[in-house]
Amino acid sequence: MPSMIPMKEFADRRRKLMERMAPDSIAIVPAAPESVRNRDVLHPFRQDSDFQYLSGFGEPEAVLVLIPGREHGESVLFCKERNPEKELWDGFLSGPEGAIDKFGLDDAFPISDIDDILPGMIEGRSRVYYPLGKDHSFDARVMDWVKVIRSKVRAGAHPPGEFVALEHLLHDLRLYKSANEIKVMAKAGEISAKAHCRAMKRARKGGYEYNLEAELIHTFMDHGARSTAYPSIVGSGANGCILHYIENSAPLKEGDLVLIDAGCEVDCYASDITRTFPVSGRFSAEQKALYEVVLSAQYAAIEAVRPGNHWNHPHEAALRVLTQGLIDLGLLSGSLDDALEQEAYKPFFMHRTGHWLGLDVHDVGDYKIGDAWRQLEPGMTLTVEPGLYIAPDNTDVDKKWRGIGIRIEDDVVVTKEGCRILTESVPKTIADIEALMAD
Ligand code: GLY
Ligand code: MN
Ligand code: MN
Repeated sequence: MPSMIPMKEFADRRRKLMERMAPDSIAIVPAAPESVRNRDVLHPFRQDSDFQYLSGFGEPEAVLVLIPGREHGESVLFCKERNPEKELWDGFLSGPEGAIDKFGLDDAFPISDIDDILPGMIEGRSRVYYPLGKDHSFDARVMDWVKVIRSKVRAGAHPPGEFVALEHLLHDLRLYKSANEIKVMAKAGEISAKAHCRAMKRARKGGYEYNLEAELIHTFMDHGARSTAYPSIVGSGANGCILHYIENSAPLKEGDLVLIDAGCEVDCYASDITRTFPVSGRFSAEQKALYEVVLSAQYAAIEAVRPGNHWNHPHEAALRVLTQGLIDLGLLSGSLDDALEQEAYKPFFMHRTGHWLGLDVHDVGDYKIGDAWRQLEPGMTLTVEPGLYIAPDNTDVDKKWRGIGIRIEDDVVVTKEGCRILTESVPKTIADIEALMAD
């Protein structure tokens, strides 16, 4: 499917990266490897996020090379050649011609020629940027290309001396989303919001967690989002306290909550939504009390997402509300400041309030610059996802609270004034959830 991001934007990203690279350097970025599911069946292919960001080229067996100042073109792609016989079985290939015509690369060659051509492109460049240490076999290939140059030093060849992790330059660019990227992420968020609504409406006792997962997948696919951004979490009852629960096979019981953490991917961009709702359509008194605390914490955290605040402000805001709520409900004792200082909330809230979101669900970008939390700036996109999880075996608290797991998660983008919520159309107040489920 063609990318919603215009080709010019990919060229701009490559240009920006090259502006940050040393002038006598080269960057080498491989496509994702294909992976075998079983025997001759492959897992569905998902492009490498860095490669996708710089090329928009969705095929495997490709390598992007950026060579600032190269006379015959700075952006070079090695990719599979067109082959009518192969394409009859496995589908369309762009070929080097298509890479230039349709993807706007400056120059392109067959991937089968890379060992002959690339050492000559690296020769004379003193620094090589590549995803150092990400994939052993690619590390070895880079060194093989360098060895070819080293073997020719007596003939005057200049091998590179510095190898630098590409992510230092590239991931900072990826952190700031463009208007087009936000459009795509908003689309992913809207589809995921529809999916959560559909799953909420389907919930009833006698069903199974996977029935709700089926509704999610149906909605994603129905809107052209062929993949989830991560395995969907559908945890009912105490399964909602298992943070990465993906078994999704337990029966739904009257009186239990269901926690669904699921999001689709559009154009390789992730969405990431969590909602928690009662199987019966009506919250119990204890569920209501805890839910209101989590919802207030989420509002407080979203309020703290604005320029001028740093990365940790939303987390601190959520922690205050969650901890005060636990004290008010008698799940913790003592003063708020002491409880925060001693991290007394940890048995009930053990994860962070969010993460960067983008091409990867836990997206790239530094959270700290040196020792200081990063300032929030327009275009940064993140999740806000406080929760409370009362373990079923927590004998420190009254029985009535045990086995309740609640998380509420939205995707937000920092704007000039504050932030915009990309996943707003799925209800999250108790009244709105109960109304939707009664519908
Ligand atoms: N679904 C993964 C997360 O919320 O971080
Ligand atoms: Mn998340
Ligand atoms: Mn999530």
